Amino acid sequence: MFMNNPFSELSASISPTVMQGYVILMVLLVIGGTVLDMMHKKSAQYFFENAKKAKKSAKRTVSTGEKASIAVKVLANEVLTSGEFCNTRRRLSHLLTMYGFIIFVVTTAIMIFGYPTPATATPAILPQLWHIGALMLAVGGYWFWFFIRVDVSAEGLSWYRFERADLFILSLLATSTFALLWSFTQSSGIAGWSTLFLALFIISSTTLFASVLWSKFAHMFFKPAAAFQKRVTRADGSRENLPAEYDLTDPAVQARFPDIPEYMGKKPDYMGHGIRREPANHY
Ligand code: HEM
Repeated sequence: MFMNNPFSELSASISPTVMQGYVILMVLLVIGGTVLDMMHKKSAQYFFENAKKAKKSAKRTVSTGEKASIAVKVLANEVLTSGEFCNTRRRLSHLLTMYGFIIFVVTTAIMIFGYPTPATATPAILPQLWHIGALMLAVGGYWFWFFIRVDVSAEGLSWYRFERADLFILSLLATSTFALLWSFTQSSGIAGWSTLFLALFIISSTTLFASVLWSKFAHMFFKPAAAFQKRVTRADGSRENLPAEYDLTDPAVQARFPDIPEYMGKKPDYMGHGIRREPANHY
């Protein structure tokens, strides 16, 4: 199963041109969905107006060089290593889901366009990576679905309750699960089941790529821009109008807020972020 390019086997019943057309259609649906999403929510307009507003309350100018270094930090931290997640389990699950999805999608495209029929032997690494990508996506996704997402872990709701906001994760899970089941039944020669799982795989991946307007899919494009902007507001001092993170033992801070030494003494303990003091699961 792990060595088989399932798409080249499929070319016996579905023409590679149809498969390639499907992939192109999915790319267009993602682009269209993302653009419509931006227009509908006016998120790009909000983003640029908000950035302009932040510039007005900036305490210093951030140079182009500094912006380039911020972009590198965003790439290394928020994008490549899911650095925004403070919770280690959420971060690991997101890394599995994100890299699993990327590996799965990229190898799908390479196999469908580069090795569409058994006439061109597929390098073994491609189907191996395709299966590993689908497995990573499934493991990270099911871990998130059953144990990590806020509805279940913090609000005590049952794992099988879902709403529209769950469309993204559920279609990711269905896509990876049916892809693996399709490949398994195809390489085991269980024809009837293989056709059923192929149909379910196509339905779930079409749902995933065609529902960008209503799902959280586009966050993978928006989050890096938001993370960049957030870092710029910290660098230029505008801080989204949030107060600075004061060191309560600093005499300058104590002079500015004289009630600190009055109530907490000259050397107050560092209390940490209230929100991180205990997990939110009071149900
Ligand atoms: C292939 C790319 C990606 C995949 C498959 C993916 C997958 C996911 C999933 C399944 C969730 C949980 C959604 C939910 O609450 O239902 C999520 C949330 C999140 N992702 Fe991604 N992600 C990707 C790329 C990115 C990138 C590039 C960033 C940041 C630069 C990012 C940052 C986040 C953040 C901060 C959350 C939490 C959002 C929230 O709780 O509202 N993701 N992602």
